[in-house]
Amino acid sequence: KEREYEKACEKWSNILPTLNREKGWLDDDMVQYQGTWLSPLLTLRSILLMHDLFTARPDDVLLVTSPKAGTTWFKALIFAIMNRSRFSLSSHPLLNNGPHHCVPSIEVLYHNKNQALELDTAPTPRILATHMPYPLLPKTTKSSECKIVYVYRDPKAVFVSQWHFFMQLREKHSLPLIPFHDAVNMFCTGLTEFGPFWDHVLGYWKVSKESPTKVFFMKYEDTKKNPLDSVKKLAEFLGHPFTEGEEKSGAVEEIVKLCSFETLVNLEVNREGILQVTPQYGVQNRYFFRKGEARDWENHLSEEIVKRFDEISEQKFGPIGLNF
Ligand code: A3P
Repeated sequence: KEREYEKACEKWSNILPTLNREKGWLDDDMVQYQGTWLSPLLTLRSILLMHDLFTARPDDVLLVTSPKAGTTWFKALIFAIMNRSRFSLSSHPLLNNGPHHCVPSIEVLYHNKNQALELDTAPTPRILATHMPYPLLPKTTKSSECKIVYVYRDPKAVFVSQWHFFMQLREKHSLPLIPFHDAVNMFCTGLTEFGPFWDHVLGYWKVSKESPTKVFFMKYEDTKKNPLDSVKKLAEFLGHPFTEGEEKSGAVEEIVKLCSFETLVNLEVNREGILQVTPQYGVQNRYFFRKGEARDWENHLSEEIVKRFDEISEQKFGPIGLNF
């Protein structure tokens, strides 16, 4: 496997010069690989490695999101639901380690050869996250019975969240900010990490309709509105439904509270900790917690920009009946 890892790295360096390039959200360009915009080092390299090295298991759970659609929140929810009989709330790993440690992103693991190879011997069931669009998922995640939870969020909210996230990182690395209108253009023309955003959603929506036991499609906004209902449905999909006794004793409420924005944002690990994305590049955990609201985009987008986003959503999602 070590040899395969090295070979996949070589493949990546050979493919890179052949791809379209555009200005990215951080200091590097983005490249277009099979229709998807990716950062060459942060994400494309890991994806190619996974294509050659990752083998899904039937009891894996894979959380898939576009960046800023609610990854951190749903990592916490899935981890808490699936492990609720293992940990007490007072010493829960989410409180000490945070969601990104409890549920690693496969793209991040694959930056480190040892971590990537250790995945093969990790205990079952593995809970993993990824931002990959459906067509780019490693073959065995499609052919095996592993379950996929996909989280969708209003593209206006994703854009606003993404703009704040990347501008914080740019400031930290002394890079000039991207003017807001340029960023809107980038997002709306698909130039965003794992974009086009709308195609990412459509890929999973289609599979969730064809195979509802394979892909569970959840909306950030629905979960904000009715977290208890969402958590119960999610637990059922994951094969860990709440018993009547658990419901009566308030187990669902406890999980909702443990994973709430208000709980997570105040934890030391999320205020002070760092997510090491690559051996050289770390991101402050606190950047993953901004407002945690459904409609904060209203405070940032003009009527004209809202119209632009909604027209694209109508055009892409209207015909298939996906409301947004
Ligand atoms: P905002 O920037 O709109 O506040 P991701 O985890 O995919 O990077 O997404 C980050 C977004 O999810 C941010 O949105 C962040 O505040 C929000 N978020 C993080 N934890 C959350 C939680 N427990 N509940 C609701 N939203 C949360």
